[in-house]
Amino acid sequence: MNVLILGSGGREHTIAWRLSSDPTCTRVYIWPGNDGMEGEKIETLPDSFCRENFEEIIKNKKIHLVIPGAEKYLYEGISDWCRDLKLACFGPSSNASELEKSKLFSKKFMIESGIPTSRFVDFSDDFQNNFHKALSLTEEFKKPVIKISGPSLGKGVFVCSDSEEARSILGKLKDEPQPGMEEGILMEEGVTGKEVSLFYACSDEKYSYLGSAQDYKRVFDGDRGPNTGGMGAISPVPWVNDDFISKVSQKILEPTLKGMKKMDTPFVGILFLGLMVNEDEINLLEYNVRFGDPETQVLLPLIEGDLTNFILNCCSGNFSQELKFKKQTAVHVVKAAKGYPGLFGEEVEKGQLIKIQNNLLDKSKIIFSGVKKMKEGLVTNGGRVLGVTSWSKDRFEALQTCYESLEKVQFKGEHFRKDIGKNL
Ligand SMILES: Nc1ncnc2c1ncn2[C@@H]1O[C@H](COP(=O)(O)OP(=O)(O)O)[C@@H](O)[C@H]1O
Ligand SMILES: [Mg+2]
Repeated sequence: MNVLILGSGGREHTIAWRLSSDPTCTRVYIWPGNDGMEGEKIETLPDSFCRENFEEIIKNKKIHLVIPGAEKYLYEGISDWCRDLKLACFGPSSNASELEKSKLFSKKFMIESGIPTSRFVDFSDDFQNNFHKALSLTEEFKKPVIKISGPSLGKGVFVCSDSEEARSILGKLKDEPQPGMEEGILMEEGVTGKEVSLFYACSDEKYSYLGSAQDYKRVFDGDRGPNTGGMGAISPVPWVNDDFISKVSQKILEPTLKGMKKMDTPFVGILFLGLMVNEDEINLLEYNVRFGDPETQVLLPLIEGDLTNFILNCCSGNFSQELKFKKQTAVHVVKAAKGYPGLFGEEVEKGQLIKIQNNLLDKSKIIFSGVKKMKEGLVTNGGRVLGVTSWSKDRFEALQTCYESLEKVQFKGEHFRKDIGKNL
Protein backbone atom coordinates (compact mmCIF):
# COMPACT_ATOMS: atom_id res chain seq x y z
CA MET A 1 0.00 0.00 0.00
CA ASN A 2 1.01 3.63 -0.47
CA VAL A 3 1.28 5.86 2.59
CA LEU A 4 1.13 9.66 2.81
CA ILE A 5 2.88 11.35 5.75
CA LEU A 6 2.23 15.04 6.46
CA GLY A 7 5.04 17.23 7.81
CA SER A 8 8.67 18.07 7.19
CA GLY A 9 10.79 17.30 10.26
CA GLY A 10 12.71 14.50 11.91
CA ARG A 11 9.52 12.86 13.17
CA GLU A 12 8.20 12.50 9.63
CA HIS A 13 11.56 11.28 8.31
CA THR A 14 11.60 8.59 11.01
CA ILE A 15 8.04 7.41 10.28
CA ALA A 16 8.85 7.20 6.56
CA TRP A 17 12.12 5.34 7.10
CA ARG A 18 10.54 2.87 9.55
CA LEU A 19 7.44 2.14 7.44
CA SER A 20 9.47 1.77 4.25
CA SER A 21 11.00 -1.44 5.63
CA ASP A 22 7.57 -3.11 6.03
CA PRO A 23 6.48 -5.73 3.48
CA THR A 24 3.00 -4.19 3.06
CA CYS A 25 4.42 -0.71 2.40
CA THR A 26 4.89 -0.12 -1.33
CA ARG A 27 5.74 3.58 -1.32
CA VAL A 28 5.88 6.43 1.19
CA TYR A 29 5.15 10.02 0.18
CA ILE A 30 6.01 12.85 2.56
CA TRP A 31 4.27 16.17 2.05
CA PRO A 32 6.13 18.55 2.01
CA GLY A 33 9.11 16.69 3.59
CA ASN A 34 12.68 17.95 3.26
CA ASP A 35 15.61 17.28 0.91
CA GLY A 36 17.31 14.82 3.27
CA MET A 37 14.46 12.32 3.35
CA GLU A 38 14.30 10.75 -0.09
CA GLY A 39 15.14 7.06 -0.20
CA GLU A 40 14.52 3.87 -2.10
CA LYS A 41 10.76 3.83 -1.41
CA ILE A 42 10.47 7.43 -0.11
CA GLU A 43 9.47 10.48 -2.13
CA THR A 44 8.71 14.07 -1.09
CA LEU A 45 5.89 16.22 -2.55
CA PRO A 46 6.53 19.95 -2.73
CA ASP A 47 2.96 21.21 -3.47
CA SER A 48 1.40 23.77 -1.13
CA PHE A 49 -1.06 22.40 1.42
CA CYS A 50 -4.79 22.80 0.75
CA ARG A 51 -7.78 20.50 0.47
CA GLU A 52 -7.83 20.56 -3.33
CA ASN A 53 -4.15 19.54 -3.59
CA PHE A 54 -4.72 16.92 -0.91
CA GLU A 55 -7.52 15.24 -2.83
CA GLU A 56 -5.45 15.39 -6.02
CA ILE A 57 -2.49 13.67 -4.34
CA ILE A 58 -4.69 10.98 -2.79
CA LYS A 59 -6.04 10.15 -6.26
CA ASN A 60 -2.84 10.45 -8.29
CA LYS A 61 -0.57 8.63 -5.88
CA LYS A 62 -3.19 6.00 -4.97
CA ILE A 63 -2.83 6.61 -1.23
CA HIS A 64 -4.30 4.01 1.17
CA LEU A 65 -3.26 5.49 4.51
CA VAL A 66 -2.63 9.05 5.76
CA ILE A 67 -0.43 9.73 8.80
CA PRO A 68 -0.43 13.36 9.98
CA GLY A 69 2.86 14.24 11.71
CA ALA A 70 2.36 17.73 13.12
CA GLU A 71 -0.78 18.62 15.08
CA LYS A 72 -1.67 21.56 12.80
CA TYR A 73 -3.02 19.15 10.17
CA LEU A 74 -5.35 17.59 12.73
CA TYR A 75 -6.60 20.98 13.90
CA GLU A 76 -7.33 21.82 10.24
CA GLY A 77 -9.48 18.71 10.02
CA ILE A 78 -7.38 16.33 7.92
CA SER A 79 -8.96 13.35 9.64
CA ASP A 80 -12.45 14.66 8.81
CA TRP A 81 -11.42 15.19 5.16
CA CYS A 82 -10.23 11.56 5.05
CA ARG A 83 -13.49 10.32 6.57
CA ASP A 84 -15.37 12.07 3.73
CA LEU A 85 -13.08 10.30 1.23
CA LYS A 86 -13.47 6.93 3.04
CA LEU A 87 -9.72 6.88 3.48
CA ALA A 88 -7.80 5.56 6.53
CA CYS A 89 -6.25 8.33 8.62
CA PHE A 90 -4.15 7.63 11.72
CA GLY A 91 -5.19 10.70 13.68
CA PRO A 92 -8.19 12.12 15.56
CA SER A 93 -11.00 14.30 14.18
CA SER A 94 -10.65 18.04 14.67
CA ASN A 95 -13.14 17.80 17.57
CA ALA A 96 -11.14 15.06 19.30
CA SER A 97 -7.91 17.03 18.70
CA GLU A 98 -9.19 19.58 21.26
CA LEU A 99 -7.51 17.31 23.83
CA GLU A 100 -4.22 18.88 22.73
CA LYS A 101 -5.35 22.12 21.10
CA SER A 102 -7.10 23.58 24.12
CA LYS A 103 -5.49 23.31 27.55
CA LEU A 104 -8.77 24.49 29.12
CA PHE A 105 -10.75 21.78 27.35
CA SER A 106 -8.27 19.09 28.32
CA LYS A 107 -7.99 20.17 31.96
CA LYS A 108 -11.81 20.27 32.37
CA PHE A 109 -12.05 16.90 30.63
CA MET A 110 -9.42 15.35 32.95
CA ILE A 111 -11.23 16.51 36.08
CA GLU A 112 -14.67 15.44 34.79
CA SER A 113 -13.31 12.02 33.79
CA GLY A 114 -11.69 11.43 37.20
CA ILE A 115 -8.17 11.40 35.78
CA PRO A 116 -5.40 12.29 38.27
CA THR A 117 -4.22 15.82 37.55
CA SER A 118 -3.56 18.90 39.68
CA ARG A 119 -6.36 21.38 40.47
CA PHE A 120 -6.78 24.47 38.29
CA VAL A 121 -8.72 27.69 37.87
CA ASP A 122 -9.91 29.13 34.59
CA PHE A 123 -9.42 32.87 34.89
CA SER A 124 -9.86 33.78 31.23
CA ASP A 125 -12.72 36.18 32.02
CA ASP A 126 -11.08 37.77 35.07
CA PHE A 127 -7.93 38.24 33.04
CA GLN A 128 -9.69 40.35 30.45
CA ASN A 129 -12.08 42.22 32.76
CA ASN A 130 -10.84 42.26 36.31
CA PHE A 131 -7.12 41.64 36.44
CA HIS A 132 -6.97 42.05 40.24
CA LYS A 133 -8.92 38.87 40.76
CA ALA A 134 -6.47 36.91 38.59
CA LEU A 135 -3.58 38.33 40.62
CA SER A 136 -5.14 37.44 43.95
CA LEU A 137 -5.71 33.86 42.79
CA THR A 138 -1.94 33.38 42.58
CA GLU A 139 -1.87 33.39 46.42
CA GLU A 140 -4.01 30.25 46.52
CA PHE A 141 -1.44 28.09 44.77
CA LYS A 142 1.77 26.88 46.39
CA LYS A 143 3.52 26.49 43.06
CA PRO A 144 1.51 28.30 40.38
CA VAL A 145 1.79 27.14 36.78
CA ILE A 146 0.27 29.56 34.28
CA LYS A 147 -0.86 28.12 30.96
CA ILE A 148 -2.05 29.81 27.81
CA SER A 149 -4.94 27.68 26.57
CA GLY A 150 -4.57 27.85 22.78
CA PRO A 151 -1.72 26.67 20.52
CA SER A 152 1.40 28.65 21.46
CA LEU A 153 4.32 26.80 19.82
CA GLY A 154 5.54 25.31 23.11
CA LYS A 155 5.92 28.78 24.66
CA GLY A 156 2.65 28.99 26.58
CA VAL A 157 3.54 27.38 29.92
CA PHE A 158 5.13 29.25 32.84
CA VAL A 159 6.21 27.17 35.83
CA CYS A 160 6.60 29.67 38.71
CA SER A 161 8.33 29.11 42.01
CA ASP A 162 5.97 31.38 44.01
CA SER A 163 3.09 33.82 43.73
CA GLU A 164 5.44 36.76 43.19
CA GLU A 165 6.85 35.21 40.05
CA ALA A 166 3.32 34.30 38.91
CA ARG A 167 2.22 37.93 39.33
CA SER A 168 5.15 39.15 37.31
CA ILE A 169 4.36 36.68 34.48
CA LEU A 170 0.69 37.72 34.53
CA GLY A 171 1.72 41.36 34.30
CA LYS A 172 3.89 40.67 31.26
CA LEU A 173 1.13 38.67 29.56
CA LYS A 174 -1.36 41.47 30.23
CA ASP A 175 0.98 44.04 28.65
CA GLU A 176 2.06 41.85 25.75
CA PRO A 177 -0.62 39.28 24.86
CA GLN A 178 0.88 36.11 23.38
CA PRO A 179 -0.44 33.71 20.71
CA GLY A 180 -3.07 31.31 22.06
CA MET A 181 -4.31 33.70 24.79
CA GLU A 182 -7.44 34.50 22.79
CA GLU A 183 -8.58 30.98 23.69
CA GLY A 184 -8.14 31.60 27.40
CA ILE A 185 -5.67 31.34 30.23
CA LEU A 186 -5.55 29.14 33.34
CA MET A 187 -3.51 28.52 36.42
CA GLU A 188 -2.83 25.11 37.91
CA GLU A 189 -1.02 23.71 40.93
CA GLY A 190 2.58 22.77 40.17
CA VAL A 191 3.54 19.16 40.85
CA THR A 192 7.03 17.71 41.26
CA GLY A 193 8.68 14.40 40.38
CA LYS A 194 10.09 12.67 37.32
CA GLU A 195 8.65 13.45 33.90
CA VAL A 196 7.96 10.70 31.40
CA SER A 197 5.87 10.25 28.26
CA LEU A 198 3.84 7.16 27.38
CA PHE A 199 2.53 6.45 23.89
CA TYR A 200 -0.52 4.47 22.77
CA ALA A 201 -2.13 3.65 19.43
CA CYS A 202 -5.88 4.03 20.00
CA SER A 203 -9.18 3.48 18.28
CA ASP A 204 -12.43 4.14 20.12
CA GLU A 205 -11.98 2.20 23.39
CA LYS A 206 -9.28 -0.18 22.13
CA TYR A 207 -5.59 0.55 22.42
CA SER A 208 -2.08 -0.82 22.15
CA TYR A 209 0.93 0.41 24.15
CA LEU A 210 3.78 1.71 21.98
CA GLY A 211 6.47 2.62 24.50
CA SER A 212 7.89 5.22 26.88
CA ALA A 213 10.30 8.08 26.26
CA GLN A 214 12.06 10.92 27.96
CA ASP A 215 12.90 14.02 25.96
CA TYR A 216 15.32 16.87 26.66
CA LYS A 217 13.75 20.26 26.08
CA ARG A 218 16.44 22.68 27.31
CA VAL A 219 19.15 23.72 24.90
CA PHE A 220 22.19 23.16 27.17
CA ASP A 221 23.61 20.28 29.22
CA GLY A 222 22.24 19.88 32.74
CA ASP A 223 18.81 21.17 31.62
CA ARG A 224 20.01 24.75 31.42
CA GLY A 225 19.13 27.48 28.94
CA PRO A 226 15.92 28.20 27.07
CA ASN A 227 13.41 25.60 25.91
CA THR A 228 13.66 24.15 22.40
CA GLY A 229 11.53 21.81 20.30
CA GLY A 230 13.65 18.99 21.82
CA MET A 231 17.39 18.29 21.75
CA GLY A 232 17.24 14.52 22.18
CA ALA A 233 15.34 11.56 23.61
CA ILE A 234 15.71 8.05 24.97
CA SER A 235 13.38 5.02 24.94
CA PRO A 236 12.42 3.05 26.94
CA VAL A 237 12.83 4.95 30.20
CA PRO A 238 14.60 2.38 32.44
CA TRP A 239 12.33 2.75 35.51
CA VAL A 240 9.07 2.35 33.53
CA ASN A 241 7.94 -1.21 34.35
CA ASP A 242 4.83 -3.28 33.52
CA ASP A 243 3.17 -2.33 36.78
CA PHE A 244 3.55 1.39 36.03
CA ILE A 245 2.30 0.96 32.46
CA SER A 246 -0.80 -0.90 33.58
CA LYS A 247 -1.54 1.75 36.23
CA VAL A 248 -1.35 4.51 33.60
CA SER A 249 -3.50 2.49 31.20
CA GLN A 250 -6.18 1.95 33.85
CA LYS A 251 -6.20 5.31 35.61
CA ILE A 252 -5.54 7.63 32.68
CA LEU A 253 -5.83 6.06 29.25
CA GLU A 254 -9.02 4.02 29.66
CA PRO A 255 -11.06 6.85 31.27
CA THR A 256 -9.82 9.15 28.50
CA LEU A 257 -11.01 6.87 25.70
CA LYS A 258 -14.29 6.25 27.51
CA GLY A 259 -14.86 9.98 28.09
CA MET A 260 -14.15 10.83 24.46
CA LYS A 261 -16.58 8.19 23.27
CA LYS A 262 -19.24 9.45 25.68
CA MET A 263 -18.96 12.94 24.16
CA ASP A 264 -19.42 11.46 20.71
CA THR A 265 -15.85 12.28 19.73
CA PRO A 266 -14.21 8.81 19.78
CA PHE A 267 -10.43 8.98 19.57
CA VAL A 268 -8.38 7.41 16.76
CA GLY A 269 -4.62 7.78 16.47
CA ILE A 270 -1.72 8.35 18.84
CA LEU A 271 -2.30 9.44 22.42
CA PHE A 272 0.92 10.75 23.89
CA LEU A 273 0.55 11.28 27.67
CA GLY A 274 2.83 13.77 29.43
CA LEU A 275 3.14 12.54 33.03
CA MET A 276 4.73 13.68 36.29
CA VAL A 277 5.51 10.82 38.67
CA ASN A 278 6.30 11.12 42.37
CA GLU A 279 6.65 7.69 43.98
CA ASP A 280 3.09 6.29 43.87
CA GLU A 281 1.49 9.50 42.68
CA ILE A 282 0.95 9.96 38.94
CA ASN A 283 -0.29 13.27 37.53
CA LEU A 284 -1.29 13.87 33.94
CA LEU A 285 0.22 17.16 32.72
CA GLU A 286 -1.03 17.12 29.15
CA TYR A 287 -2.23 15.18 26.14
CA ASN A 288 -0.68 15.29 22.72
CA VAL A 289 -2.69 13.71 19.94
CA ARG A 290 0.12 12.71 17.56
CA PHE A 291 3.65 11.32 17.55
CA GLY A 292 6.30 13.44 19.31
CA ASP A 293 9.41 14.99 17.78
CA PRO A 294 12.07 13.78 18.78
CA GLU A 295 10.36 10.94 20.73
CA THR A 296 9.34 9.18 17.49
CA GLN A 297 13.03 8.93 16.57
CA VAL A 298 13.54 6.56 19.53
CA LEU A 299 10.15 4.79 19.70
CA LEU A 300 9.79 3.51 16.16
CA PRO A 301 13.19 1.78 15.73
CA LEU A 302 12.26 -0.50 18.66
CA ILE A 303 8.94 -1.69 17.18
CA GLU A 304 9.17 -4.96 15.25
CA GLY A 305 6.85 -6.47 12.66
CA ASP A 306 4.75 -4.83 9.97
CA LEU A 307 3.96 -1.46 11.53
CA THR A 308 2.30 -0.14 8.34
CA ASN A 309 -0.22 -2.97 8.45
CA PHE A 310 -0.72 -2.49 12.19
CA ILE A 311 -1.49 1.23 11.74
CA LEU A 312 -3.88 0.61 8.84
CA ASN A 313 -5.82 -1.96 10.89
CA CYS A 314 -5.81 0.28 13.95
CA CYS A 315 -7.63 2.99 11.95
CA SER A 316 -10.59 0.63 11.62
CA GLY A 317 -10.42 -0.64 15.21
CA ASN A 318 -8.71 -3.95 14.40
CA PHE A 319 -6.00 -4.68 16.98
CA SER A 320 -5.58 -8.39 16.18
CA GLN A 321 -1.92 -7.91 15.17
CA GLU A 322 0.20 -7.85 18.30
CA LEU A 323 3.29 -5.65 18.17
CA LYS A 324 6.65 -6.93 19.35
CA PHE A 325 9.44 -4.75 20.68
CA LYS A 326 13.20 -5.09 20.48
CA LYS A 327 14.63 -5.52 23.98
CA GLN A 328 16.99 -2.65 23.32
CA THR A 329 17.46 1.03 24.15
CA ALA A 330 17.30 3.71 21.47
CA VAL A 331 18.77 7.20 21.84
CA HIS A 332 18.53 10.24 19.62
CA VAL A 333 20.71 13.36 19.76
CA VAL A 334 19.89 16.49 17.74
CA LYS A 335 22.48 18.78 16.15
CA ALA A 336 21.18 22.36 15.99
CA ALA A 337 22.30 25.40 14.02
CA LYS A 338 24.17 28.36 15.47
CA GLY A 339 21.73 30.71 17.22
CA TYR A 340 19.00 28.07 17.85
CA PRO A 341 16.49 28.38 19.57
CA GLY A 342 16.68 31.99 18.39
CA LEU A 343 15.24 33.92 21.30
CA PHE A 344 15.42 37.68 21.70
CA GLY A 345 16.01 38.35 18.03
CA GLU A 346 19.08 36.11 17.78
CA GLU A 347 19.31 34.85 14.24
CA VAL A 348 19.45 31.11 13.50
CA GLU A 349 22.17 30.51 10.92
CA LYS A 350 21.27 28.83 7.61
CA GLY A 351 23.14 27.69 4.51
CA GLN A 352 26.09 25.84 6.11
CA LEU A 353 27.32 22.83 4.15
CA ILE A 354 26.75 19.49 5.94
CA LYS A 355 29.72 17.12 5.64
CA ILE A 356 28.75 13.48 5.91
CA GLN A 357 31.36 10.70 6.05
CA ASN A 358 30.16 7.54 4.39
CA ASN A 359 31.39 5.09 7.02
CA LEU A 360 28.51 5.50 9.46
CA LEU A 361 28.34 2.97 12.27
CA ASP A 362 25.87 0.04 12.27
CA LYS A 363 22.62 0.38 14.26
CA SER A 364 22.60 4.12 13.57
CA LYS A 365 20.49 6.30 11.33
CA ILE A 366 20.80 9.98 10.39
CA ILE A 367 17.43 11.72 10.58
CA PHE A 368 17.10 15.04 8.74
CA SER A 369 14.93 17.97 9.86
CA GLY A 370 16.13 21.40 8.69
CA VAL A 371 18.10 20.76 5.49
CA LYS A 372 18.01 21.80 1.85
CA LYS A 373 19.74 20.47 -1.28
CA MET A 374 22.02 22.95 -3.08
CA LYS A 375 24.57 22.48 -5.89
CA GLU A 376 27.34 21.85 -3.34
CA GLY A 377 25.29 19.31 -1.34
CA LEU A 378 22.93 19.38 1.64
CA VAL A 379 23.03 22.64 3.61
CA THR A 380 21.45 23.68 6.91
CA ASN A 381 18.00 25.24 6.62
CA GLY A 382 16.46 25.38 10.09
CA GLY A 383 17.09 25.38 13.83
CA ARG A 384 17.09 21.66 14.44
CA VAL A 385 19.14 20.48 11.47
CA LEU A 386 19.52 16.73 11.92
CA GLY A 387 19.95 14.03 14.53
CA VAL A 388 21.33 10.54 14.90
CA THR A 389 19.36 7.62 16.35
CA SER A 390 21.31 4.60 17.61
CA TRP A 391 20.11 1.44 19.32
CA SER A 392 21.68 -1.41 21.25
CA LYS A 393 20.96 -4.00 23.96
CA ASP A 394 23.06 -1.83 26.26
CA ARG A 395 22.07 1.79 26.92
CA PHE A 396 25.66 2.99 27.24
CA GLU A 397 26.67 1.25 24.04
CA ALA A 398 23.75 2.92 22.25
CA LEU A 399 24.92 6.28 23.57
CA GLN A 400 28.51 5.66 22.52
CA THR A 401 27.45 4.62 19.00
CA CYS A 402 25.22 7.68 18.74
CA TYR A 403 27.90 10.17 19.77
CA GLU A 404 30.52 8.48 17.55
CA SER A 405 28.14 8.64 14.59
CA LEU A 406 27.44 12.31 15.29
CA GLU A 407 31.16 12.99 14.77
CA LYS A 408 30.75 11.81 11.21
CA VAL A 409 28.07 14.38 10.36
CA GLN A 410 29.27 17.93 10.83
CA PHE A 411 28.50 21.52 9.90
CA LYS A 412 29.86 24.89 10.95
CA GLY A 413 28.24 26.47 14.02
CA GLU A 414 26.62 23.20 15.19
CA HIS A 415 25.76 22.60 18.84
CA PHE A 416 24.30 19.59 20.62
CA ARG A 417 23.82 18.22 24.12
CA LYS A 418 26.44 15.83 25.49
CA ASP A 419 24.29 14.47 28.34
CA ILE A 420 21.32 12.84 26.57
CA GLY A 421 20.31 9.57 28.26
CA LYS A 422 23.01 9.80 30.91
CA ASN A 423 21.23 10.68 34.16
CA LEU A 424 17.92 8.91 34.39
N1 LIG B 1 1.28 21.28 36.80
C1 LIG B 1 2.58 21.27 36.50
N2 LIG B 1 3.52 21.15 37.47
C2 LIG B 1 4.83 21.18 37.21
N3 LIG B 1 5.34 21.32 35.97
C3 LIG B 1 4.47 21.45 34.94
C4 LIG B 1 3.05 21.44 35.16
N4 LIG B 1 2.45 21.59 33.95
C5 LIG B 1 3.44 21.69 33.04
N5 LIG B 1 4.67 21.61 33.61
C6 LIG B 1 5.98 21.67 32.95
O1 LIG B 1 5.87 22.46 31.78
C7 LIG B 1 6.16 21.69 30.61
C8 LIG B 1 5.24 22.10 29.48
O2 LIG B 1 3.90 21.92 29.87
P1 LIG B 1 2.86 21.13 28.95
O3 LIG B 1 1.55 21.12 29.66
O4 LIG B 1 3.47 19.82 28.59
O5 LIG B 1 2.70 22.10 27.70
P2 LIG B 1 3.33 22.16 26.23
O6 LIG B 1 4.11 20.89 25.99
O7 LIG B 1 2.14 22.28 25.37
O8 LIG B 1 4.17 23.39 26.24
C9 LIG B 1 5.99 20.24 31.06
O9 LIG B 1 6.77 19.38 30.27
C10 LIG B 1 6.43 20.30 32.51
O10 LIG B 1 7.85 20.24 32.60
MG1 LIG C 1 4.48 19.07 26.73
